[in-house]
Amino acid sequence: MTLEGKVALVTGSSQGIGQAIAVRLAQEGAQVVINYRSNPQGAEETLAKVQAAGGQCHLAEGYCDHEKGYSVGADLGMVGDVRRLIKAGIEHFGRLDVLVNNAGIEKHAPFWEVAEADYEAVMNVNLKGVFFATQEMVKHLIETRRPGKIINISSVHEDLPFPNFTAYCCSKGGMKMLTRNLAVELGPLGITVNNVAPGAIETPINTKLLNDPTKLGALLQNIPLSRLGQPGDVASLVAFLASSDANYITGTTFFVDGGLLWNYHEQ
Ligand code: BGC
Repeated sequence: MTLEGKVALVTGSSQGIGQAIAVRLAQEGAQVVINYRSNPQGAEETLAKVQAAGGQCHLAEGYCDHEKGYSVGADLGMVGDVRRLIKAGIEHFGRLDVLVNNAGIEKHAPFWEVAEADYEAVMNVNLKGVFFATQEMVKHLIETRRPGKIINISSVHEDLPFPNFTAYCCSKGGMKMLTRNLAVELGPLGITVNNVAPGAIETPINTKLLNDPTKLGALLQNIPLSRLGQPGDVASLVAFLASSDANYITGTTFFVDGGLLWNYHEQ
């Protein structure tokens, strides 16, 4: 597996799963467009790791003979920003081959208390942003008559109910259908579309849970592999799906959840 000569854009790559994906893709040879919204420091950290994967970089001297990374600030909840981000990546590296729709947010509230603004924030970033980022990417691939790969970071909650996170589940359920639909519509263009669906991964989105020993203990009981996932557990699968080894795979969801999704047992 190698991504030498490929250009990938990873949304939400200033931290967590997105950062691990950006770094892993760079280690496999890709040039990477990094994106952040509220965490420019995190994006700098990702950029440094991505540049370091380039081999010929001497970051201390501010020198890199093969530029591996480029960082762009954009809010995935705003379609104007989304379009600008994709265009900036294309302009900078000359083209894009792989789009990883990773940016995502969640809000905790009982269904009857969900505020309209919170519903909109979740749906805009997790679904609308993905829809229009993918549209911009597809337009680029059509214009340049090239195949490409779209990889969406979904969740076990594209299938599994998650009480108090209804908008989040709706967005991931929508992402599942977006992937199925686009795989069929875009297949003839040589564009593959797949979902990677993490379970409980140790990232900033889970900070509250990670700091609550009772909740964490209960969650671990539901995970057959008895541990939380690491961002790298997700990134390795994304690297495979971005490579030509995965050319015949489209319209599918791959779960990276330590067995969480199908773990039901009677006491
Ligand atoms: C959510 C986490 C949750 C995990 C397992 C993820 O999609 O972002 O908050 O812990 O699923 O339920």
